[in-house]
Amino acid sequence: MRIEVPRSAVRPDEPWVAAAERRAADIGLTGRLLAVDLSDDPLVFGIDEQHWFACRPMTRGDLRDVSRWVNQPHVVRWWDEQRSLEQVAAHYGPALAGDDPTRLWVFEANGRSVGFAQDYRIGDHPDYALLTGKPDAVGIDYAIGEPAFVGHGLGTSLLWVLVREVVVPSYDDLREVHAAPDHRNAASLRVLAKLGFQQGTWFDEPHDPEEPGGRVDTVIGCTLDVAEVIGPVTDR
Ligand SMILES: CC(C)(COP(=O)(O)OP(=O)(O)OC[C@H]1O[C@@H](n2cnc3c(N)ncnc32)[C@H](O)[C@@H]1OP(=O)(O)O)[C@@H](O)C(=O)NCCC(=O)NCCS
Repeated sequence: MRIEVPRSAVRPDEPWVAAAERRAADIGLTGRLLAVDLSDDPLVFGIDEQHWFACRPMTRGDLRDVSRWVNQPHVVRWWDEQRSLEQVAAHYGPALAGDDPTRLWVFEANGRSVGFAQDYRIGDHPDYALLTGKPDAVGIDYAIGEPAFVGHGLGTSLLWVLVREVVVPSYDDLREVHAAPDHRNAASLRVLAKLGFQQGTWFDEPHDPEEPGGRVDTVIGCTLDVAEVIGPVTDR
C-alpha cells in the first residue's frame, strides 16, 4: 500500500514521517509506515503487508551467518572485513562483549536472518570523525548477506527500520545519521537516497589506517537530517 505525500503538502517544520502519518490517517490506512522513495516529489511511503521486518541485537550465535554473508560476492566487493569465522569473531567480539560502544544488529525479514548492520557515534572514532567532519553524527554500515533478499526493495525497508526504530530513538539529540558508501556502490547510494539521505562530501578513506600510503577508497558522505525526515522521538 503506497502513501504519496507531495512535498508541498508537508507543513513548515513538519517531519516527513508526520506528514505521511497524517495522510495515512486521512485515507484510513493503518500499519507500520516504511519509506519507499523519499528522493523525489511526491515523497513515497508504504505499508508492506507481505513482509515483517526486524532489526535485533547480534549475538555470538550469529557469527557463522555473518562470516558467510561477508563472503558473498555481492558483499565482498564493498565490505572490507576479515573473512574466516575466527577473523569475524575476533573483529566483532569486543562489540558483542560490550567492550566497544559500536552496536551490532541482525536484519530479519519474516523471521529469517538476512543481513547485519552496525551503528556508532562517529566521535568515538577520532580518525573517522576527522575524515567525515561529523563527530556528533551516528554512522551506520550495513549489508544484506542473503543473495535471494538483495535487489527486491527489502534493503530500503530494513534500513528504514534500523534508522527510524533503532538508531534515532537511542541517541539523545541526534541530528544526523551518516553513511559513506564507495562512490561506485550505486545500489547503496540509491537506497540511501530513497531513505531521504543527501549526498555531501567525497573523501578518501584508508583501507587500513595502520598502513600509511596504502589503498584508499573514495567514498561519498551521505547524511540524513533527522529533524526533517523523522522528527523528534517524542513526536512518534
Ligand atoms: C546496499 C544494499 C543494502 C541495498 O539493499 P537492496 O535490497 O539491494 O536495495 P533495494 O532493492 O531496496 O534498492 C536498490 C536500489 O538500487 C538500485 N540499484 C541496484 N544496483 C544498481 C546499479 N548497479 N546501478 C544503479 N542502481 C542500482 C536498484 O534499482 C534500486 O533502486 P530503485 O528501487 O530505484 O530501482 C544491498 O544491496 C547490499 O547489502 N549490498 C552489499 C553490501 C553493501 O554494499 N553494503 C553497503 C556498504 S556502504
